[in-house]
Amino acid sequence: MYLKMLQKRRSIRKYKDEEVNGEQIQALLQAALLSPSSRGQRPWQFILIDENNILAELADAKAGGSSFLAGAEYAVAIAADPEVSDVWVEDCSIAATNIQMMAEDLGLGSCWVQIRRRQRQNGEDSESYVKEILDLPQDLRVLAIIALGHPDEEKEDHELDELAYDKIHYNCYGQEIPN
Ligand SMILES: Cc1cc2nc3c(=O)[nH]c(=O)nc-3n(C[C@H](O)[C@H](O)[C@H](O)COP(=O)(O)O)c2cc1C
Repeated sequence: MYLKMLQKRRSIRKYKDEEVNGEQIQALLQAALLSPSSRGQRPWQFILIDENNILAELADAKAGGSSFLAGAEYAVAIAADPEVSDVWVEDCSIAATNIQMMAEDLGLGSCWVQIRRRQRQNGEDSESYVKEILDLPQDLRVLAIIALGHPDEEKEDHELDELAYDKIHYNCYGQEIPN
């Protein structure tokens, strides 16, 4: 059941040294390409990365929250051309989520590494750094990198009775859904 999968999905930042097979990679990329996008413009580009030296360089893309990329089996960088769609951030975010949920369905772990609007330790823009490493065309923007691999850490499922139901409103803001 999809709701159960949403409960089980947690950000996984430690990965086993175990191969993610070709079929799994294909499914992850197909999940990305199946994503809905505004006006069907599909402004995205997905860069699949499995070279250890590139993953290690990407691990240094931010002051914090990216180091685990060095231990990932794979990563998918998600970029887009803002000239193709003014809502590329939304489009790419949906694709990123679909990759993460596909990973969950395959029993893989994943974590989002935010790149857009982030900086490296030395103050350099994370996007510029990633663009140079991945040799991206200048007109592309980078949203995020999704780290992927077989999970080497266990986390509790999200519990349905612990959700922030106070963020749900009924007809008007501030009104609760009647029981
Ligand atoms: C837009 C976005 C940006 C995120 N950026 C990072 C990041 O740069 N590094 C990281 O380790 N986790 C990142 N995360 C993962 C969140 O920290 C994580 O989803 C949140 O703490 C909830 O935990 P859960 O995914 O296990 O439910 C990001 C998640 C989202 C949706």
